[in-house]
Amino acid sequence: MTLHSVTPLNEEIMFGENEIIVSKTDLKGRLTYANDVFCRVAEMAPKDVIGQPHNIIRHPDMPRTIFKLLWDSIQDSQEIFAYVKNMSRTGKYYWVLAHVTPSMDLNGKLDGFHSNRRKPGAKEIDKISHLYQDLLKEEQRHPNGKMGLEAGHSMLHDIISGADQTYPEFIWSMQN
Ligand SMILES: Cc1cc2nc3c(=O)[nH]c(=O)nc-3n(C[C@H](O)[C@H](O)[C@H](O)COP(=O)(O)O)c2cc1C
Repeated sequence: MTLHSVTPLNEEIMFGENEIIVSKTDLKGRLTYANDVFCRVAEMAPKDVIGQPHNIIRHPDMPRTIFKLLWDSIQDSQEIFAYVKNMSRTGKYYWVLAHVTPSMDLNGKLDGFHSNRRKPGAKEIDKISHLYQDLLKEEQRHPNGKMGLEAGHSMLHDIISGADQTYPEFIWSMQN
């Protein structure tokens, strides 16, 4: 199952402020667990989700820069918080603030990843969506994916260091 052929709709799929969307993946980002909230919001049955790559819910409005940052962090065994716009099976969108963590076995060896997500507030979504639009535009201005990703990374870096912040400080500043 892939959503790549689904047309994105300008329609939000809702979930409760007190609900947490949970997923777990293997080292390649293939889903090994999705809770009922994940499946309901993605409009997918558990059997359509397990074993699929996590980009199954990727929204085309998301800049690749953010996913590179996410993967660089978790493969380095570091947790990360990231705002993500996702897409349901019928093309509806939903914003999340995701906390993505590495999972280790008893020997400290990385054996998968885990993510919990909550619904961000309207102010956070407004700020981050403008930034992501700029990042996506910057990525797409370049002739190939690699150059676009480098340009996106450097734009994000300039914004964050220009505000004299680290990436986690930048994320928390979205809530003010
Ligand atoms: C634990 C975990 C959670 C993730 N959560 C999301 C998510 O909510 N939405 C998303 O689009 N990608 C998520 N990803 C990243 C995807 O694996 C993928 O990198 C991203 O969708 C970009 O897809 P692409 O590389 O095909 O462009 C997650 C990855 C992991 C390991």
